[in-house]
Amino acid sequence: MEQNILVDISRAKASAVGRDHGVTPEELGEIEGRVLEAHAVLQQQRAERQYGFFDLYRDAAMWQAVKEEAARFSPNGCENLVILGIGGSALGITALHTALNPPYYNLLSGAGRKRRPRLFVMDNIDPMTFRAMLRLCPPQKTLFNAISKSGETAETMAQLMIVVEMLEKKLGKDALKDHLVVTTSPRAEGAPRSLLHPVADAYGLTSFAIPLNVGGRFSVFSPVGMFPAAILGMDLDAMAAGCAAMDARCSQPSLADNPAYLRAAVQYLLDTRKGKTMTVMMPYADSLRDVADWFRQLWAESLGKRLNYEGEEVYAGQTPIKALGVTDQHSQVQLYREGPNNKVFTMLEVGRFDKTVRIPDALQQVEGLNYLRNKSLNKLLAAELRGTMDALKMSARPVMRITLPRVNAHTVAQLLYMLEVETAMAGRLYRVNAFDQPGVEEGKRIARRLMGGEG
Ligand code: PA5
Repeated sequence: MEQNILVDISRAKASAVGRDHGVTPEELGEIEGRVLEAHAVLQQQRAERQYGFFDLYRDAAMWQAVKEEAARFSPNGCENLVILGIGGSALGITALHTALNPPYYNLLSGAGRKRRPRLFVMDNIDPMTFRAMLRLCPPQKTLFNAISKSGETAETMAQLMIVVEMLEKKLGKDALKDHLVVTTSPRAEGAPRSLLHPVADAYGLTSFAIPLNVGGRFSVFSPVGMFPAAILGMDLDAMAAGCAAMDARCSQPSLADNPAYLRAAVQYLLDTRKGKTMTVMMPYADSLRDVADWFRQLWAESLGKRLNYEGEEVYAGQTPIKALGVTDQHSQVQLYREGPNNKVFTMLEVGRFDKTVRIPDALQQVEGLNYLRNKSLNKLLAAELRGTMDALKMSARPVMRITLPRVNAHTVAQLLYMLEVETAMAGRLYRVNAFDQPGVEEGKRIARRLMGGEG
Protein backbone atom coordinates (compact mmCIF):
# COMPACT_ATOMS: atom_id res chain seq x y z
CA MET A 1 0.00 0.00 0.00
CA GLU A 2 1.34 3.43 -0.95
CA GLN A 3 1.75 5.84 1.93
CA ASN A 4 1.78 9.58 2.28
CA ILE A 5 4.87 11.44 3.39
CA LEU A 6 4.41 13.39 6.62
CA VAL A 7 5.39 16.95 7.45
CA ASP A 8 5.87 18.01 11.06
CA ILE A 9 6.61 21.64 11.94
CA SER A 10 6.05 21.39 15.69
CA ARG A 11 9.72 21.99 16.50
CA ALA A 12 9.77 25.15 14.41
CA LYS A 13 7.06 26.71 16.57
CA ALA A 14 7.52 29.27 19.32
CA SER A 15 6.15 26.71 21.77
CA ALA A 16 9.23 24.56 21.07
CA VAL A 17 12.05 27.08 20.58
CA GLY A 18 10.68 30.37 21.90
CA ARG A 19 9.13 33.40 20.22
CA ASP A 20 12.47 34.78 19.01
CA HIS A 21 13.20 31.69 16.95
CA GLY A 22 9.95 29.92 16.21
CA VAL A 23 6.69 30.83 14.50
CA THR A 24 3.81 31.84 16.74
CA PRO A 25 0.16 30.87 16.19
CA GLU A 26 -0.57 34.58 15.57
CA GLU A 27 2.07 34.77 12.83
CA LEU A 28 0.70 31.66 11.16
CA GLY A 29 -2.81 33.10 11.47
CA GLU A 30 -1.71 36.39 9.90
CA ILE A 31 0.08 34.77 6.98
CA GLU A 32 -2.87 32.50 6.21
CA GLY A 33 -4.65 35.36 4.40
CA ARG A 34 -1.66 35.98 2.15
CA VAL A 35 -1.35 32.25 1.48
CA LEU A 36 -5.00 32.11 0.43
CA GLU A 37 -4.48 35.02 -1.98
CA ALA A 38 -1.32 33.42 -3.35
CA HIS A 39 -3.14 30.11 -3.72
CA ALA A 40 -5.78 31.78 -5.88
CA VAL A 41 -3.07 33.34 -8.08
CA LEU A 42 -1.16 30.05 -8.43
CA GLN A 43 -4.34 28.18 -9.30
CA GLN A 44 -5.18 30.81 -11.90
CA GLN A 45 -1.67 30.63 -13.38
CA ARG A 46 -1.94 26.86 -13.44
CA ALA A 47 -5.30 26.98 -15.20
CA GLU A 48 -3.83 29.40 -17.75
CA ARG A 49 -0.89 27.02 -18.26
CA GLN A 50 1.61 29.71 -17.30
CA TYR A 51 3.58 27.22 -15.22
CA GLY A 52 3.51 23.66 -16.45
CA PHE A 53 5.32 21.79 -13.70
CA PHE A 54 2.09 21.22 -11.75
CA ASP A 55 0.62 19.07 -14.51
CA LEU A 56 3.58 17.22 -16.00
CA TYR A 57 2.49 14.00 -14.32
CA ARG A 58 -0.86 14.18 -16.14
CA ASP A 59 0.76 14.30 -19.58
CA ALA A 60 0.01 10.67 -20.40
CA ALA A 61 1.21 11.01 -24.01
CA MET A 62 4.61 12.31 -22.90
CA TRP A 63 5.07 9.55 -20.31
CA GLN A 64 4.05 6.93 -22.85
CA ALA A 65 6.49 8.29 -25.46
CA VAL A 66 9.27 8.29 -22.92
CA LYS A 67 8.57 4.67 -21.95
CA GLU A 68 8.39 3.53 -25.59
CA GLU A 69 11.62 5.23 -26.56
CA ALA A 70 13.35 3.85 -23.47
CA ALA A 71 12.20 0.36 -24.43
CA ARG A 72 13.52 0.90 -27.96
CA PHE A 73 16.97 1.94 -26.72
CA SER A 74 17.33 -0.46 -23.82
CA PRO A 75 17.89 -3.74 -25.69
CA ASN A 76 20.69 -2.13 -27.73
CA GLY A 77 23.38 -3.57 -25.51
CA CYS A 78 23.45 -0.20 -23.80
CA GLU A 79 25.72 -0.56 -20.79
CA ASN A 80 26.16 3.11 -19.99
CA LEU A 81 23.80 6.03 -19.94
CA VAL A 82 25.60 9.37 -19.97
CA ILE A 83 23.72 12.59 -19.30
CA LEU A 84 25.21 15.73 -20.80
CA GLY A 85 23.52 18.58 -18.95
CA ILE A 86 23.86 20.96 -16.05
CA GLY A 87 21.72 22.55 -13.30
CA GLY A 88 18.07 21.69 -13.75
CA SER A 89 18.99 19.38 -16.60
CA ALA A 90 21.06 17.15 -14.31
CA LEU A 91 20.07 17.46 -10.66
CA GLY A 92 16.64 15.84 -10.94
CA ILE A 93 17.76 12.56 -12.44
CA THR A 94 20.72 12.50 -10.05
CA ALA A 95 18.33 12.83 -7.10
CA LEU A 96 16.06 10.08 -8.43
CA HIS A 97 18.98 7.79 -9.21
CA THR A 98 20.54 8.09 -5.75
CA ALA A 99 17.15 7.69 -4.08
CA LEU A 100 15.80 4.78 -6.09
CA ASN A 101 18.73 2.76 -7.31
CA PRO A 102 20.85 0.66 -4.94
CA PRO A 103 23.97 2.15 -3.32
CA TYR A 104 27.18 1.77 -5.37
CA TYR A 105 24.98 1.10 -8.39
CA ASN A 106 27.68 1.61 -11.03
CA LEU A 107 29.90 -0.95 -9.30
CA LEU A 108 27.27 -3.69 -9.37
CA SER A 109 27.31 -6.48 -11.95
CA GLY A 110 24.83 -6.34 -14.84
CA ALA A 111 22.54 -8.70 -12.93
CA GLY A 112 22.84 -6.51 -9.81
CA ARG A 113 21.66 -3.61 -11.95
CA LYS A 114 18.82 -5.70 -13.41
CA ARG A 115 20.58 -5.38 -16.79
CA ARG A 116 20.11 -1.63 -16.71
CA PRO A 117 22.97 0.66 -17.76
CA ARG A 118 25.38 2.38 -15.43
CA LEU A 119 24.69 6.11 -15.06
CA PHE A 120 27.14 8.97 -15.50
CA VAL A 121 25.81 12.51 -15.08
CA MET A 122 28.23 14.98 -16.62
CA ASP A 123 27.16 18.21 -14.98
CA ASN A 124 30.57 19.80 -15.11
CA ILE A 125 33.27 20.41 -17.67
CA ASP A 126 36.29 19.39 -15.66
CA PRO A 127 38.53 17.92 -18.38
CA MET A 128 39.86 15.19 -16.07
CA THR A 129 36.40 13.88 -15.24
CA PHE A 130 35.11 14.14 -18.79
CA ARG A 131 38.07 12.29 -20.22
CA ALA A 132 37.77 9.59 -17.55
CA MET A 133 34.08 9.12 -18.43
CA LEU A 134 34.94 8.76 -22.13
CA ARG A 135 37.43 6.05 -21.28
CA LEU A 136 34.96 4.19 -19.07
CA CYS A 137 32.15 4.33 -21.61
CA PRO A 138 33.01 2.72 -24.97
CA PRO A 139 30.81 4.39 -27.63
CA GLN A 140 29.28 1.17 -28.99
CA LYS A 141 27.91 0.35 -25.51
CA THR A 142 26.83 3.83 -24.50
CA LEU A 143 23.76 5.99 -24.91
CA PHE A 144 24.28 9.73 -24.50
CA ASN A 145 21.38 12.03 -23.60
CA ALA A 146 22.16 15.71 -24.20
CA ILE A 147 19.72 17.81 -22.17
CA SER A 148 19.40 21.56 -22.44
CA LYS A 149 16.16 23.53 -22.27
CA SER A 150 17.70 26.61 -23.89
CA GLY A 151 19.78 24.48 -26.23
CA GLU A 152 22.63 26.91 -25.95
CA THR A 153 24.36 26.34 -22.61
CA ALA A 154 28.06 26.46 -23.45
CA GLU A 155 29.07 23.65 -21.08
CA THR A 156 26.53 21.19 -22.49
CA MET A 157 27.20 22.20 -26.09
CA ALA A 158 30.96 21.74 -25.64
CA GLN A 159 30.38 18.27 -24.18
CA LEU A 160 28.07 17.46 -27.08
CA MET A 161 30.63 18.54 -29.67
CA ILE A 162 33.23 16.23 -28.14
CA VAL A 163 30.79 13.32 -28.01
CA VAL A 164 29.47 13.79 -31.56
CA GLU A 165 32.95 13.91 -33.00
CA MET A 166 33.96 10.81 -31.06
CA LEU A 167 30.82 8.88 -32.09
CA GLU A 168 31.21 9.86 -35.74
CA LYS A 169 34.85 8.86 -35.76
CA LYS A 170 34.39 5.56 -33.97
CA LEU A 171 30.95 4.40 -35.16
CA GLY A 172 30.17 6.45 -38.26
CA LYS A 173 27.57 9.12 -38.85
CA ASP A 174 24.67 6.68 -39.36
CA ALA A 175 25.15 5.12 -35.93
CA LEU A 176 24.62 8.35 -34.03
CA LYS A 177 20.86 7.93 -33.84
CA ASP A 178 21.37 4.75 -31.80
CA HIS A 179 23.72 6.41 -29.33
CA LEU A 180 22.53 9.97 -28.87
CA VAL A 181 19.19 11.41 -27.80
CA VAL A 182 18.49 15.09 -27.26
CA THR A 183 16.05 16.76 -24.86
CA THR A 184 15.36 20.42 -25.43
CA SER A 185 12.71 23.08 -26.00
CA PRO A 186 9.99 22.27 -28.54
CA ARG A 187 10.01 23.49 -32.13
CA ALA A 188 6.95 25.61 -31.52
CA GLU A 189 6.34 28.91 -33.19
CA GLY A 190 7.64 31.73 -31.02
CA ALA A 191 9.84 29.29 -29.04
CA PRO A 192 13.47 30.24 -28.61
CA ARG A 193 15.82 28.59 -31.09
CA SER A 194 17.64 25.56 -29.65
CA LEU A 195 21.00 24.64 -31.11
CA LEU A 196 20.07 21.03 -30.44
CA HIS A 197 17.43 21.09 -33.20
CA PRO A 198 19.89 21.28 -36.11
CA VAL A 199 21.99 18.58 -34.43
CA ALA A 200 18.95 16.30 -34.17
CA ASP A 201 18.10 17.00 -37.81
CA ALA A 202 21.60 16.36 -39.08
CA TYR A 203 21.80 12.92 -37.50
CA GLY A 204 18.12 11.87 -37.34
CA LEU A 205 18.17 11.78 -33.56
CA THR A 206 15.31 11.04 -31.20
CA SER A 207 14.37 14.35 -29.67
CA PHE A 208 12.24 14.99 -26.57
CA ALA A 209 10.55 18.32 -25.94
CA ILE A 210 10.63 20.17 -22.62
CA PRO A 211 7.37 22.15 -22.46
CA LEU A 212 8.00 25.88 -22.81
CA ASN A 213 6.15 26.58 -19.57
CA VAL A 214 8.46 24.32 -17.53
CA GLY A 215 11.73 25.76 -16.23
CA GLY A 216 14.90 23.70 -15.88
CA ARG A 217 14.76 23.25 -12.11
CA PHE A 218 11.06 22.33 -12.26
CA SER A 219 11.55 19.81 -15.06
CA VAL A 220 12.28 16.54 -13.27
CA PHE A 221 8.89 15.05 -14.22
CA SER A 222 9.30 16.05 -17.88
CA PRO A 223 11.42 13.98 -20.33
CA VAL A 224 14.45 15.65 -18.69
CA GLY A 225 14.12 13.30 -15.74
CA MET A 226 11.67 10.71 -17.02
CA PHE A 227 13.53 9.44 -20.10
CA PRO A 228 16.69 8.57 -18.14
CA ALA A 229 14.48 7.26 -15.31
CA ALA A 230 12.74 4.93 -17.77
CA ILE A 231 16.06 3.75 -19.23
CA LEU A 232 17.19 2.99 -15.68
CA GLY A 233 14.03 0.93 -15.07
CA MET A 234 12.43 3.18 -12.48
CA ASP A 235 8.72 2.80 -11.80
CA LEU A 236 7.26 5.74 -13.73
CA ASP A 237 3.67 4.80 -12.92
CA ALA A 238 4.41 4.89 -9.21
CA MET A 239 6.07 8.28 -9.67
CA ALA A 240 3.03 9.68 -11.50
CA ALA A 241 0.81 8.30 -8.73
CA GLY A 242 3.06 9.93 -6.11
CA CYS A 243 2.77 13.29 -7.89
CA ALA A 244 -1.01 12.89 -8.10
CA ALA A 245 -1.28 12.06 -4.40
CA MET A 246 0.77 15.11 -3.47
CA ASP A 247 -1.06 17.33 -5.96
CA ALA A 248 -4.32 16.46 -4.21
CA ARG A 249 -2.82 17.66 -0.90
CA CYS A 250 -1.11 20.70 -2.42
CA SER A 251 -4.30 21.85 -4.12
CA GLN A 252 -5.86 22.55 -0.71
CA PRO A 253 -5.91 26.25 0.14
CA SER A 254 -5.39 26.07 3.90
CA LEU A 255 -2.13 25.75 5.78
CA ALA A 256 -3.59 22.97 7.89
CA ASP A 257 -4.21 20.74 4.86
CA ASN A 258 -1.42 21.74 2.51
CA PRO A 259 2.07 20.62 3.58
CA ALA A 260 3.81 22.62 0.83
CA TYR A 261 2.10 25.87 1.82
CA LEU A 262 2.73 25.21 5.49
CA ARG A 263 6.45 24.71 4.91
CA ALA A 264 6.64 27.76 2.61
CA ALA A 265 4.93 29.90 5.26
CA VAL A 266 7.23 28.69 8.04
CA GLN A 267 10.38 29.21 5.95
CA TYR A 268 9.22 32.68 4.91
CA LEU A 269 8.23 33.76 8.42
CA LEU A 270 11.41 32.44 9.98
CA ASP A 271 13.56 34.18 7.35
CA THR A 272 11.81 37.55 7.34
CA ARG A 273 10.86 37.79 11.03
CA LYS A 274 13.31 35.64 12.97
CA GLY A 275 16.50 36.09 10.97
CA LYS A 276 16.74 32.50 9.70
CA THR A 277 18.45 33.49 6.50
CA MET A 278 19.69 29.96 5.83
CA THR A 279 17.75 26.76 5.39
CA VAL A 280 19.49 23.44 5.95
CA MET A 281 18.15 20.22 4.48
CA MET A 282 19.59 17.23 6.28
CA PRO A 283 18.47 13.78 5.17
CA TYR A 284 19.13 10.89 7.51
CA ALA A 285 19.52 8.47 4.60
CA ASP A 286 22.28 8.31 2.01
CA SER A 287 19.63 7.65 -0.61
CA LEU A 288 18.15 11.12 -0.08
CA ARG A 289 21.39 13.09 -0.10
CA ASP A 290 20.94 14.24 -3.69
CA VAL A 291 17.36 15.30 -3.02
CA ALA A 292 18.96 17.91 -0.74
CA ASP A 293 21.27 18.89 -3.61
CA TRP A 294 18.34 19.17 -6.02
CA PHE A 295 16.37 21.26 -3.49
CA ARG A 296 19.38 23.52 -2.96
CA GLN A 297 19.23 24.62 -6.59
CA LEU A 298 15.44 24.86 -6.62
CA TRP A 299 15.33 27.13 -3.57
CA ALA A 300 18.39 29.22 -4.46
CA GLU A 301 17.65 29.94 -8.11
CA SER A 302 13.95 30.43 -7.57
CA LEU A 303 14.01 32.76 -4.58
CA GLY A 304 17.40 34.47 -4.72
CA LYS A 305 16.20 37.61 -6.47
CA ARG A 306 17.25 41.26 -6.50
CA LEU A 307 13.89 42.62 -7.61
CA ASN A 308 10.35 41.96 -6.45
CA TYR A 309 7.18 42.11 -8.57
CA GLU A 310 7.09 45.88 -8.18
CA GLY A 311 10.67 46.21 -9.47
CA GLU A 312 11.96 47.25 -6.04
CA GLU A 313 15.34 46.01 -4.86
CA VAL A 314 14.70 43.39 -2.18
CA TYR A 315 17.65 40.97 -2.43
CA ALA A 316 15.37 38.12 -1.35
CA GLY A 317 16.15 34.49 -0.65
CA GLN A 318 17.38 32.14 2.02
CA THR A 319 20.68 30.38 1.45
CA PRO A 320 19.98 26.66 1.13
CA ILE A 321 22.51 24.29 2.62
CA LYS A 322 22.70 20.55 2.14
CA ALA A 323 23.92 18.34 4.94
CA LEU A 324 23.78 14.62 5.63
CA GLY A 325 22.93 12.79 8.82
CA VAL A 326 24.77 11.31 10.60
CA THR A 327 27.93 12.23 8.68
CA ASP A 328 27.58 15.97 9.16
CA GLN A 329 26.81 15.65 12.85
CA HIS A 330 30.58 15.27 13.06
CA SER A 331 31.23 18.26 10.82
CA GLN A 332 28.43 20.83 10.97
CA VAL A 333 26.28 20.30 14.04
CA GLN A 334 28.69 22.13 16.34
CA LEU A 335 28.09 25.23 14.21
CA TYR A 336 24.39 24.52 13.86
CA ARG A 337 23.93 24.40 17.66
CA GLU A 338 26.40 26.98 18.91
CA GLY A 339 27.05 29.24 15.92
CA PRO A 340 24.72 32.02 14.79
CA ASN A 341 21.06 31.16 15.26
CA ASN A 342 20.26 32.05 11.64
CA LYS A 343 19.13 28.69 10.25
CA VAL A 344 15.98 26.63 9.97
CA PHE A 345 16.46 22.90 9.57
CA THR A 346 14.56 20.30 7.59
CA MET A 347 15.36 16.76 8.62
CA LEU A 348 14.41 14.03 6.14
CA GLU A 349 13.53 10.87 8.00
CA VAL A 350 12.90 7.39 6.63
CA GLY A 351 10.24 5.46 8.52
CA ARG A 352 11.49 2.08 7.47
CA PHE A 353 14.57 1.10 5.49
CA ASP A 354 14.31 -1.85 3.12
CA LYS A 355 17.15 -3.62 4.93
CA THR A 356 18.11 -4.05 8.57
CA VAL A 357 21.74 -4.44 9.62
CA ARG A 358 22.06 -6.00 13.04
CA ILE A 359 24.92 -5.03 15.33
CA PRO A 360 26.18 -8.38 16.64
CA ASP A 361 27.01 -9.47 20.14
CA ALA A 362 30.70 -9.02 19.31
CA LEU A 363 33.71 -7.64 21.22
CA GLN A 364 32.30 -8.95 24.49
CA GLN A 365 35.49 -8.05 26.32
CA VAL A 366 34.67 -4.35 25.80
CA GLU A 367 32.00 -3.48 28.35
CA GLY A 368 31.66 0.04 27.02
CA LEU A 369 30.01 -1.33 23.88
CA ASN A 370 27.15 -3.07 25.70
CA TYR A 371 24.65 -0.40 24.68
CA LEU A 372 25.20 -1.26 21.01
CA ARG A 373 24.98 -5.06 21.30
CA ASN A 374 22.12 -6.77 19.51
CA LYS A 375 20.73 -3.47 18.29
CA SER A 376 20.81 -2.42 14.63
CA LEU A 377 22.31 0.33 12.50
CA ASN A 378 18.71 1.29 11.76
CA LYS A 379 18.01 1.88 15.45
CA LEU A 380 21.26 3.77 15.95
CA LEU A 381 20.49 6.04 12.98
CA ALA A 382 17.02 6.79 14.40
CA ALA A 383 18.53 7.55 17.80
CA GLU A 384 21.11 9.87 16.23
CA LEU A 385 18.38 11.75 14.39
CA ARG A 386 16.29 12.10 17.54
CA GLY A 387 19.39 13.12 19.50
CA THR A 388 20.29 15.84 16.99
CA MET A 389 16.73 17.15 16.85
CA ASP A 390 16.53 17.31 20.64
CA ALA A 391 19.93 18.97 20.89
CA LEU A 392 18.91 21.57 18.28
CA LYS A 393 15.74 22.23 20.24
CA MET A 394 17.74 22.74 23.44
CA SER A 395 19.68 25.42 21.54
CA ALA A 396 16.43 27.04 20.36
CA ARG A 397 17.04 26.09 16.69
CA PRO A 398 13.83 25.61 14.66
CA VAL A 399 13.48 22.23 12.98
CA MET A 400 10.94 20.79 10.55
CA ARG A 401 10.75 17.10 9.79
CA ILE A 402 9.62 15.29 6.67
CA THR A 403 9.07 11.56 7.07
CA LEU A 404 9.04 9.18 4.13
CA PRO A 405 7.41 5.95 5.35
CA ARG A 406 9.66 4.10 2.86
CA VAL A 407 11.97 5.32 0.11
CA ASN A 408 10.36 4.38 -3.18
CA ALA A 409 9.22 5.93 -6.45
CA HIS A 410 5.87 6.93 -4.95
CA THR A 411 7.21 8.68 -1.84
CA VAL A 412 10.17 10.34 -3.55
CA ALA A 413 7.87 11.75 -6.24
CA GLN A 414 5.61 13.10 -3.48
CA LEU A 415 8.59 14.76 -1.86
CA LEU A 416 9.91 16.42 -5.03
CA TYR A 417 6.44 17.56 -6.08
CA MET A 418 5.78 19.04 -2.64
CA LEU A 419 9.09 20.93 -2.64
CA GLU A 420 8.28 22.38 -6.07
CA VAL A 421 4.92 23.66 -4.88
CA GLU A 422 6.53 24.94 -1.68
CA THR A 423 9.00 26.92 -3.79
CA ALA A 424 6.24 28.36 -5.98
CA MET A 425 4.30 29.46 -2.87
CA ALA A 426 7.44 30.91 -1.28
CA GLY A 427 7.98 32.97 -4.45
CA ARG A 428 4.51 34.48 -3.98
CA LEU A 429 5.19 35.23 -0.31
CA TYR A 430 8.52 36.91 -1.08
CA ARG A 431 6.80 38.61 -4.05
CA VAL A 432 9.57 37.52 -6.44
CA ASN A 433 9.44 35.63 -9.71
CA ALA A 434 10.36 32.07 -8.73
CA PHE A 435 10.53 30.96 -12.35
CA ASP A 436 13.30 33.06 -13.89
CA GLN A 437 17.06 33.21 -13.29
CA PRO A 438 18.45 36.50 -14.62
CA GLY A 439 21.54 36.19 -12.43
CA VAL A 440 22.53 32.91 -14.09
CA GLU A 441 21.84 34.10 -17.62
CA GLU A 442 24.21 37.05 -17.20
CA GLY A 443 27.15 34.81 -16.28
CA LYS A 444 26.39 32.52 -19.23
CA ARG A 445 26.43 35.48 -21.62
CA ILE A 446 29.74 36.83 -20.28
CA ALA A 447 31.43 33.42 -20.56
CA ARG A 448 30.22 33.03 -24.14
CA ARG A 449 31.60 36.46 -25.00
CA LEU A 450 34.96 35.61 -23.40
CA MET A 451 35.11 32.56 -25.65
CA GLY A 452 34.64 34.80 -28.67
CA GLY A 453 30.91 34.22 -29.16
CA GLU A 454 28.03 36.63 -29.15
CA GLY A 455 27.47 38.09 -25.69
O1 PA5 B 1 16.81 25.90 -13.59
C1 PA5 B 1 17.33 26.40 -14.57
O2 PA5 B 1 16.67 26.96 -15.45
C2 PA5 B 1 18.83 26.31 -14.78
O3 PA5 B 1 19.46 25.75 -13.71
C3 PA5 B 1 19.13 25.50 -16.02
O4 PA5 B 1 18.59 24.21 -15.86
C4 PA5 B 1 20.63 25.41 -16.28
O5 PA5 B 1 21.18 26.69 -16.36
C5 PA5 B 1 20.87 24.68 -17.61
O6 PA5 B 1 20.18 25.31 -18.65
P1 PA5 B 1 19.79 24.52 -19.95
O7 PA5 B 1 18.91 23.41 -19.60
O8 PA5 B 1 19.11 25.56 -20.79
O9 PA5 B 1 21.08 24.06 -20.57
